[in-house]
Amino acid sequence: MWGKGAQGKGQGSHIANWIATAQELYEAAPGSLHMSLVMLLLGLLLLTLLAAARLLWGQWMLRALHLPPLVPGFLHMLQPNLPLHLLDLTQKFGPIYRLRLGLQDVVVLNSKRTIEEAMIKKWVDFAGRPQILSYKLVSQADQDLSLGDYTPLWKAHKKLTRSALLLSLRSSMESIVEQLTQEFCERMRALAGTPVDIQKEFSMLTCSVICSLTFGDKEDATVCAFRDCTRDLMKTWDHWSIQMLDIVPFLRFFPNPGLWRLKQAMEIRDRMVGEQLRRHKESLVPGRWRDMMDYMLQGVWKQRGKEGFGQLLEGHVHMAVVDLFIGGTETTAITLSWTLAFLLHHPEILQRLQEELDRELGPQASESRVPYKDRARLPLLNATITEVLRLRPVVPLALPHRTTRPSSISGYDIPEGTVVIANLQGAHLDDMVWEEPHEFRPDRFLEPGAGPGQLAFGCGARVCLGEPLARLELFVVLAQVLRDFALLPPAGALPSLQPEPYSGVNLLMQPFQVRLQPRGARAPGLGERQ
Ligand code: HEM
Ligand SMILES: *[C@@H]1O[C@H](CO)[C@@H](O)[C@H](O)[C@H]1NC(C)=O
Repeated sequence: MWGKGAQGKGQGSHIANWIATAQELYEAAPGSLHMSLVMLLLGLLLLTLLAAARLLWGQWMLRALHLPPLVPGFLHMLQPNLPLHLLDLTQKFGPIYRLRLGLQDVVVLNSKRTIEEAMIKKWVDFAGRPQILSYKLVSQADQDLSLGDYTPLWKAHKKLTRSALLLSLRSSMESIVEQLTQEFCERMRALAGTPVDIQKEFSMLTCSVICSLTFGDKEDATVCAFRDCTRDLMKTWDHWSIQMLDIVPFLRFFPNPGLWRLKQAMEIRDRMVGEQLRRHKESLVPGRWRDMMDYMLQGVWKQRGKEGFGQLLEGHVHMAVVDLFIGGTETTAITLSWTLAFLLHHPEILQRLQEELDRELGPQASESRVPYKDRARLPLLNATITEVLRLRPVVPLALPHRTTRPSSISGYDIPEGTVVIANLQGAHLDDMVWEEPHEFRPDRFLEPGAGPGQLAFGCGARVCLGEPLARLELFVVLAQVLRDFALLPPAGALPSLQPEPYSGVNLLMQPFQVRLQPRGARAPGLGERQ
């Protein structure tokens, strides 16, 4: 059929010649061209059929599965207090349900029982992380720890970072935290009860702890630079313009000031961490380590050239350090701030705490410090910390998990690749488990057979890496600060106990100020504590 119309035309001119050649080609072609066209159509048809079959099969499989109940609606993201909203839904749907968050279907777990079944009993099944664009953006070649998916290489990464932290816990961590807290108290004493933005002061303190532990540098300039950088990163990353990219990925090809700011913050981050890495590599003595970075670098070098699941690289050390700052500064600082806020609202608890502290480490006590291992000597302080972590777990929805293979929770099927959210705060406010769950009552943890324990740090394979450090810091800082200072609200205004609406990953406090009034007997006796 092709070219048939041109047959038998004159062939005198150059152009006619050319046409004829083309025509011959066409004449030879029709069979094969025709065939390929048919083949193409058949192929397309087959593909469409296959895709349809797969879709139907998938639907059918899902139908055959016993999935958790589906909550209607798709605007849950817009709730100002998402953890409490998710908890409210359990009234109607039970502790485990499915719902649409953004454009994603997720399974939400709202009770200690379901969370522990997933994260502890079936930990391998639930150890993954969703690989979404906003994660990839900040993870630098997939070398991040907190956002990385569950792989053998990730396991090695977490193990190395955890060993570094535990080694430091066994050697210098406690004295570093005590020393920095003492310096903090001296600074506060100098302010002599003028109102301070306590969240900022606490975040400087926790940032100096991480700076000291990771690269042994607690110079004010370094600490300030890392704190500012951490805050910028978290603020730009939590911004809606970045979160939008997870919903509509191709938006990244359009001008996006939020993305530009995030990239700037990451550049600063990588320059600062890179500089510390360079300094460490230059001065490192093999077999010895001064801080966590030394330890991790040597851990990476030691396994170089070994066969197996892939290689830990210096980039992994780089990203572990980033995670220590992102995960380990604001979280602890915010928890400390929540504690002061609750104590301002409950002066009777504060008074009992100070009596306990005066008894164990006050002017009349034989020592001026209680070592962390003897913390049982301060039971009310321990109970207060536990109660604050219960009411305001600073990462209230943990980080999203993803199933690595088909699994189940309390009889419901959970297919592979499902995003799973653990509502830690919801589990802490479960009235099936806790008496008057919304009340601040540290005494509940002093009673024998106290409550079921809280989950503020998550559990299982993805448990918070910094839990031992966070617990040590909370204990040491609160013991020293509450022993040395009376807490007073500025101009009589108490801070709000409601979290900042639309908090994002961390349960933020609304800004507040507090006056730290040096307590009489201790104030001049600072020197005697050494
Ligand atoms: C009061 C303080 C803290 C609380 C309440 C807290 C809580 C959490 C929670 C709930 C998770 C997510 C668990 C999950 O996905 O199931 C987490 C992960 C993590 N936290 Fe913390 N955290 C705190 C302090 C710290 C500190 C001090 C550090 C570092 C020194 C840290 C480093 C990390 C890291 C690296 C992860 C990711 C672990 C992983 O993906 O396997 N956190 N934290
Ligand atoms: C602190 O309190 C928690 C919660 O009641 C308890 O499980 C833990 O054993 C206590 N720790 C110490 C050292 O007393």
